[in-house]
Amino acid sequence: MPRDSHGHLTPGRISPLRPVPSSIVRPEYVGKAAPADYTGGDVYDAATIELIRESSRIAADAITAVGEAIRPGVTTEQLDVIAHDYVTSHGAYPSTLGYRGFPKSVCTSVNEVICHGIPDDTVLLDGDIVNIDITAYKNGVHGDTNRTFVVGDAPQTTVDLVERTREALNRGIKAVAPGRQVNVIGRAIEMYAKRFGYGVVRDYTGHGVGRAFHSGLIIPHYDAPQFDDVMEVGMVFTIEPMLTLGGVDADIWADDWTVTTRDFSLTAQFEHTMVVTERGAEVLTTY
Ligand code: MF3
Ligand code: CO
Ligand code: CO
Repeated sequence: MPRDSHGHLTPGRISPLRPVPSSIVRPEYVGKAAPADYTGGDVYDAATIELIRESSRIAADAITAVGEAIRPGVTTEQLDVIAHDYVTSHGAYPSTLGYRGFPKSVCTSVNEVICHGIPDDTVLLDGDIVNIDITAYKNGVHGDTNRTFVVGDAPQTTVDLVERTREALNRGIKAVAPGRQVNVIGRAIEMYAKRFGYGVVRDYTGHGVGRAFHSGLIIPHYDAPQFDDVMEVGMVFTIEPMLTLGGVDADIWADDWTVTTRDFSLTAQFEHTMVVTERGAEVLTTY
């Protein structure tokens, strides 16, 4: 089934599109090949930040609901159903569904999958890790967050990778302050990850989020001085580091979505949406 003789993940069976009630407002990109060019900025007024807070709250609570179902024997398809039904029953649209053709309401990224895993008939096994990445769209704005869960009991090296990736995100958040360049975030994350010899993925980054799912603003997770955008009060973006027990080179499956480590090393990720305040960052996707 969806593991080969080495225990590596392989593509599974993807179920038909899950319908969304017609009362729920779709993002503009649904049914199109790609989103429209985003021309708005990344700084929001207080009223819009409250709307992003509401979308972010739904996304974070949906992950908690999915997390309660994670155990050996569950399929990633079953987790998609929980995510989809949670988000839609709270009046929001699951932003990944129909985003550039992505077919599901959550990304489920298992073990060596770095990100963008598609829910299918993959059965989670004791000792796996699985990242749950949910974005909710409501009132014209998105909130985006992810967490990695350990399935059953895993070796200490696995648990350590997961907990240190959570801490790497926290280090990145603590580096946020108005007037600083966004590259301070990646510097803080990479400095922490290097202590443990972990790889820091470069090909996927944090991003501006709000009126657009991905605004064009890039937040690097490694030391990259060229990303010199200056943080401002009211700016909204994600930080979402991906750390590995090995290298950082990536491969993409023939589905054009699933991203794995080339060396099949284990990889974990955590993501928050946050707003820059006078004092630092306020996380909108707390749990
Ligand atoms: N939620 C992801 C992010 O953190 C994006 C997923 S896009 C998808 O930016 F199409 F793969 F779902
Ligand atoms: Co994101
Ligand atoms: Co995300």
